[in-house]
Amino acid sequence: MKNKPSLQNAYDLKSPDDNIELYSVWAETYDNDFVEDMQYKLHFAVAEEFVLHGGNGLVLDVGAGTGALAQALLQRGNFSIEATDISKKMLEVAESKNIYDRSFLSDLTKEIPANNDFYDGVVSSGTFTHGHVGPRAIDELVRVTKPGGLITISVNEKHWIAFDFASEVEKLSQHTRNSILKKISIYGDKSTHEHKDDKAIILTIKV
Ligand SMILES: C[S@@+](CC[C@H](N)C(=O)[O-])C[C@H]1O[C@@H](n2cnc3c(N)ncnc32)[C@H](O)[C@@H]1O
Repeated sequence: MKNKPSLQNAYDLKSPDDNIELYSVWAETYDNDFVEDMQYKLHFAVAEEFVLHGGNGLVLDVGAGTGALAQALLQRGNFSIEATDISKKMLEVAESKNIYDRSFLSDLTKEIPANNDFYDGVVSSGTFTHGHVGPRAIDELVRVTKPGGLITISVNEKHWIAFDFASEVEKLSQHTRNSILKKISIYGDKSTHEHKDDKAIILTIKV
């Protein structure tokens, strides 16, 4: 069954509609059978890097899912956080945690329904990966971020290479201050599943 929740099925998705279908089934159990059981830790790394580089203020969490990244951010400071995701069901779980000021649906392969220069920061974990969202969406993240603001997102390492995120970041460098890359493990040291050694690039862009 194609929409049976699993990391491999998530990686094999082909379109935004496939994402809506899979995550509508996964939403209720995602925190337990993915975040906990697979020792997912990308959200902590993105939160740390965002804080390290001075992220603050009103933050948009894109591909927010059930809110793991916002929870990690709020452990590290005071932020006002808004959530956006293509999956209504994932956002419903996030909303039940009362961690977001606001949440709204969007498809990151299209335009984000937000004004130019609106957010002090944009963050994302786990969404720029196989079968999900590619590098072209970064333009929109820059558009909605204020000059002087900060963007910190994770990109699965193999996805980074396959979709040439480096060229996109190079293009953006003409109208952003600078960008910083850091490679990290996606899962905890004690994880034993087949993706346990997968890595991600944490990309921070100073707008
Ligand atoms: C692996 S989950 C990550 C969720 C959360 N950020 C975390 O770290 O646990 C990927 C999320 O990306 C969302 N997503 C996938 N394609 C999307 C798109 N085109 N636009 C917006 N969100 C998308 C999914 O609905 C899902 O909630």
